[in-house]
Amino acid sequence: MILQGDKIVKQYNHKGGRINALDHVSFSVNKGDFVTVTGPSGSGKSTLLLSLFGLIRLSSGTVMFDGKRIDNITDRHLTDIRKKSVGYILQSFALIPYLTTIQNVMIPLALEKIPVNEQVKRATEILDYVGLSDRKEHLPRELSAGQQQRVAIARSIVHHPQIIMADEPTGNLDPTLSLEILEFLKKINLDNKITIMMVTHSPIAAEYGTMKLHLNDGKIVNQKS
Ligand SMILES: Nc1ncnc2c1ncn2[C@@H]1O[C@H](COP(=O)(O)OP(=O)(O)O)[C@@H](O)[C@H]1O
Ligand SMILES: [Mg+2]
Repeated sequence: MILQGDKIVKQYNHKGGRINALDHVSFSVNKGDFVTVTGPSGSGKSTLLLSLFGLIRLSSGTVMFDGKRIDNITDRHLTDIRKKSVGYILQSFALIPYLTTIQNVMIPLALEKIPVNEQVKRATEILDYVGLSDRKEHLPRELSAGQQQRVAIARSIVHHPQIIMADEPTGNLDPTLSLEILEFLKKINLDNKITIMMVTHSPIAAEYGTMKLHLNDGKIVNQKS
């Protein structure tokens, strides 16, 4: 077991009252699983993804990662865990517009204070792996949407995370590019045994799951593996 949530609750307060975005969500993920999280808009998918490693703080419940509780640790410790062990991929790619492809990919390594020559070496290897060795010096706006998402994927794996958290990674791509990215995620999952947790509203993308969580109104209504 690499990741386990137990009775996770997240309440948002807002002017109209309180929303239970996550309402006693429990699940467990094995190392190497490709988990898909589906559910209607507003069902709590993004909240789940962002809360597990503390980008959003839970209201209650516990999260275990790699044998340790992580819901009750300091922000600083959580940041360390994210930097070392987690890769994030978002729908909007979230590339830094004024940095080149290789500079974008080096960010996680720079955060870990790895020497620059080593950063360049590892980013170059990963860019070969995602098929972008000839785009190293391009800026994000000089790349196609599919290429930009591959840069984002390269950035999410360059520090060899144990788990990738992807929130609608194909949400902004056409069907052909979506399939390319999904196949790519599957390859990363199989080649490197990196666990993937991917939020999606696409039934085709959900088929990639070896374990499937379905949320409705903040509750897990279906869990299949
Ligand atoms: N920062 C926030 N403040 C208040 N309510 C929020 C906030 N973020 C999300 N919500 C609410 O929590 C629920 C779940 O949202 P979200 O996790 O984004 O759903 P999904 O990703 O499945 O579309 C929704 O009702 C949403 O409006
Ligand atoms: Mg969402």
